[in-house]
Amino acid sequence: MIKLNRVSKRFAQFQAIKELSLEINSGEIHGIIGASGAGKSTLLRLMNLLEIPDEGEVEVNAQILTKMSGKKLREARKSIGMIFQHFNLISNKTVYDNVAVSLELTRSPKEEQKKRVLECLSFVGLAELKDKYPAQLSGGQKQRVAIARALANKPQVLLCDEPTSSLDSNTTADLLKVLEDINQHLGVTIVIVSHEMEVIKSICNRVTVLENGSLYQTVTTKPKGVQMKENRAQYFVDQLTEGEEIDNA
Ligand SMILES: Nc1ncnc2c1ncn2[C@@H]1O[C@H](COP(=O)(O)OP(=O)(O)OP(=O)(O)O)[C@@H](O)[C@H]1O
Ligand SMILES: [Mg+2]
Repeated sequence: MIKLNRVSKRFAQFQAIKELSLEINSGEIHGIIGASGAGKSTLLRLMNLLEIPDEGEVEVNAQILTKMSGKKLREARKSIGMIFQHFNLISNKTVYDNVAVSLELTRSPKEEQKKRVLECLSFVGLAELKDKYPAQLSGGQKQRVAIARALANKPQVLLCDEPTSSLDSNTTADLLKVLEDINQHLGVTIVIVSHEMEVIKSICNRVTVLENGSLYQTVTTKPKGVQMKENRAQYFVDQLTEGEEIDNA
């Protein structure tokens, strides 16, 4: 679903990402963790070309973004939603208008837009707050609005940069549930950057550990449902033998 092939990014003399290759599978929730300054946000922003790599190739949804520009790139980017730590809502627009923003750019008919905005707000449980302004909402509600906005264009991928880092632990748990629902019910592939180990461990299928702009290791934390089913027989064998050799005869 997402393929980075030997991607590098420099800021002036500083090498933020170094020849990094990574594949993220369709349907997974993939975590990115690492120390502050390791390059997590830069790596995420390379996935939708918010940062243009100096070298290497970025492929999303079978389209090589690094070979695209202009209208084609804008079109391809519609399949990639993004949310941020500080929500990035427009303060003088209502909840409804914040979600409608991305649809207005597509010039779809008003009635269709309205249906989609309300669908997205209902999905995150905020339809009743559609006429409020961001300042009237809690942090968790603001992040849900940001999620609804990201969903409006029916993305196949959702990139999340520290989505729960401004939220308390109860609100964090609720928000992670929303992200899991999006993954499971809408089939959206999710990439989540966080420095909070608990967040990463609770929802990710695989986690990439970054160190100084390089991929240190990718770890499988929670195999996806399908893989679990495929491995069901082996799971029983593992439980029975607890690592001992089993007599196959
Ligand atoms: N636009 C920029 N201009 C110059 N340097 C930058 C820029 N963006 C990032 N950097 C540098 O690149 C390195 C990686 O930054 P990045 O924001 O990706 O790290 P991070 O892992 O997300 O850190 P944090 O956990 O603090 O968010 C840092 O040293 C940062 O100072
Ligand atoms: Mg960051």
